[in-house]
Amino acid sequence: MGIQTADVLTPLRAAFHGTLIANMGYTPAEAAEAIGSGSVDAVAFGRAFLANPDLPERIRLGANLNAPNDKTFYGGGAEGYTDYPFLTDAQREAARDNATEGVR
Ligand SMILES: Cc1cc2nc3c(=O)[nH]c(=O)nc-3n(C[C@H](O)[C@H](O)[C@H](O)COP(=O)(O)O)c2cc1C
Repeated sequence: MGIQTADVLTPLRAAFHGTLIANMGYTPAEAAEAIGSGSVDAVAFGRAFLANPDLPERIRLGANLNAPNDKTFYGGGAEGYTDYPFLTDAQREAARDNATEGVR
């Protein structure tokens, strides 16, 4: 779960009138809820973006996300930075089919 709204973001939102971008532990669904409720203007993703080079597309399609591997954080090499897989064509099609099932 992202930072608890009641703990941190509510007083911040009241005191700060600029664009408020939250971060830390949000799932895409939690981010949408936080933005929809007006408690924040945007949410930044860290680990989810590291593990998913196509994160915006995955969120748009409701596709599964690759899980980040914390053993390869801060490693200094390519492993864990540039080797997480993009959606395959088959996964992309399956996600599209799931997303449109409800509107058929
Ligand atoms: C491997 C790794 C490297 C990071 N490097 C930076 C960095 O250079 N600068 C920074 O401000 N935050 C850095 N962060 C923190 C992220 O930007 C983010 O605040 C943190 O991962 C929490 O957001 P998340 O729950 O969406 O992952 C890093 C996080 C990870 C896991």
